[in-house]
Amino acid sequence: MLISTLHGSYLFCALTKCVECSSEASELADIEWDNLGFGLLPTDYMYMMKCSQGGNFSKGELQRFGNIELNPSAGVLNYGQGLFEGLKAYRKEDGNILLFRPEENALRMRQGAERMCMPAPTVDQFVEAVKETVLANKRWVPPPGKGSLYIRPLLMGSGAVLGLAPAPEYTFLIYVSPVGNYFKEGVAPINLIVEHELHRATPGGTGGVKTIGNYAAVLKAQSAAKAKGYSDVLYLDCVHKKYLEEVSSCNIFVVKGNVISTPAIKGTILPGITRKSIIDVARSQGIQVEERFVPVDELLDADEVFCTGTAVVVSPVGSITYKGKRVSYGVDGFGAVAQQLYSVLTRLQMGLIDDKMNWTVELS
Ligand code: COI
Repeated sequence: MLISTLHGSYLFCALTKCVECSSEASELADIEWDNLGFGLLPTDYMYMMKCSQGGNFSKGELQRFGNIELNPSAGVLNYGQGLFEGLKAYRKEDGNILLFRPEENALRMRQGAERMCMPAPTVDQFVEAVKETVLANKRWVPPPGKGSLYIRPLLMGSGAVLGLAPAPEYTFLIYVSPVGNYFKEGVAPINLIVEHELHRATPGGTGGVKTIGNYAAVLKAQSAAKAKGYSDVLYLDCVHKKYLEEVSSCNIFVVKGNVISTPAIKGTILPGITRKSIIDVARSQGIQVEERFVPVDELLDADEVFCTGTAVVVSPVGSITYKGKRVSYGVDGFGAVAQQLYSVLTRLQMGLIDDKMNWTVELS
């Protein structure tokens, strides 16, 4: 049980016979850990912190996970004034938990908030809130090798507004869910289709921040692609309809020889934290990385293609279909470059190798 202190923060109950605690105190939640997918499993607690327009976020608190109340006129519901983040926690063999670069998510949320006219938690507030939420839900962090705890911070205009304007009040909320592989293919290669009519982002728009509307905008193309048996959609730039942008839920990399290329961050592509980490890991492994305009034609003679994202981690691409023509990569499984990068990144995230990059944050 969580007990409120004088300062409004929470402590864990120390009673050995506390009824509410008895199931929560057990090391691991009683669920089937072997077949986690990427779906919501309700956990014990979520974190909430509020702030008025022009003010600062101050005192947040944990509360039982559950539905939240919103005015029907809330800015987020009416005008899409909302951002989200995604990061993961992994359980180590010694029971401690590792977060991966949480301050990067905090910074990205702050940049997005500036674009969306919202106040945002400071980096410290964000990271402390993530730590508190993960520790309160510790029993939901999967055993080593079985998955991770996906952490979903939200920032939304929760105040009521009728005329188009920034909302008068904001809510920062964090909930978590244990997850396994994002794609139903598991770690098997995914099959993408290039979308050349619908676009995800426009220059000067919000494609470069993690606002909720960017994700609603891809659902039409994504649903059509899934109905045809593809795993997801690869978007092109909306000006030339020629350069790769990103996949609905992740960034993309193209491998040719010892060079990997990925679309440069120019405002229409999400600056992925896994993307950035993979670039650094690749360079540390002697692989040349180019961030530039990548014409769709380069897919034709690529050696490998892979996607990166918090949810998808590193996902190999087995085929890409563009204007009816399908190009396949490799026989099955990961290509050598994607495999090498996946292996270094995930071993680092899980605490299986030395964190020379200083990217992980350990919670005990
Ligand atoms: C993530 O990778 O965390 C994302 O935000 C993508 C989301 C569509 C699952």
